[in-house]
Amino acid sequence: MNCCQCQGIEMEFNRKKTARELKRYRRKGPAKTTRVLIEALKARGVQGMSLLDIGGGVGAIHHELLDAGASSATHADASTAYLEASREEVEHQGHAGRVGFLHGDFVELAADIPPADIVTLDRVICCYHDMQALVGLSSTRARQYYGLVYPRDTWLIRIGFAILNFVLGFRKNPFRIFSHSTQAVDAVVRGNGLERQFYAKSSVWQVVVYERQG
Ligand SMILES: C[S@@+](CC[C@H](N)C(=O)[O-])C[C@H]1O[C@@H](n2cnc3c(N)ncnc32)[C@H](O)[C@@H]1O
Repeated sequence: MNCCQCQGIEMEFNRKKTARELKRYRRKGPAKTTRVLIEALKARGVQGMSLLDIGGGVGAIHHELLDAGASSATHADASTAYLEASREEVEHQGHAGRVGFLHGDFVELAADIPPADIVTLDRVICCYHDMQALVGLSSTRARQYYGLVYPRDTWLIRIGFAILNFVLGFRKNPFRIFSHSTQAVDAVVRGNGLERQFYAKSSVWQVVVYERQG
């Protein structure tokens, strides 16, 4: 992976952090907003559909959607440690053979990744500097549904992220967190032929499901 942020991702989402996350997932299930996204997709029907989960972490979305009738999943992730945890969980949940794994920056891999019925990015956009490329390329891969969880566009969040980035810089950690404009994200997705069908928010996150038109 060429980008500096991807080196930061490898450093930030290391084995210690991902093992902790897997333990939490086994104890408590998906995070609240992840659960909202999963339920919104399930309500639309996922039977027989393929899933491309970009930055899927420990794999919460693909396990829930496979259990709900999705046919297969591809997990593309820039973090080696998250992919290891996700592989472990695939075995644990008996989904081996139904999930494919790709390591790398999705923006670099995109040309070789075929479209899927559902594409999801759960808390991923905020970990990547080039929103136009990440959202642009991933939304073109969505044949039917495109699901996002990303930070709300508020001044409080922008200040919070600026403080966090200052601390990361101070600790010589190259990882950065990004607050991308909701309007800009929405424009890129709509520009690729998808319309918003579902919206929910918490104090920090917004959950959106788009559907392909026509
Ligand atoms: C904050 S974690 C979220 C993990 C999981 N989706 C969740 O919500 O628990 C961000 C994830 O996005 C991945 N990621 C960020 N930018 C990426 C990119 N350009 N290509 C592939 N994965 C990316 C990271 O490796 C990491 O797995």
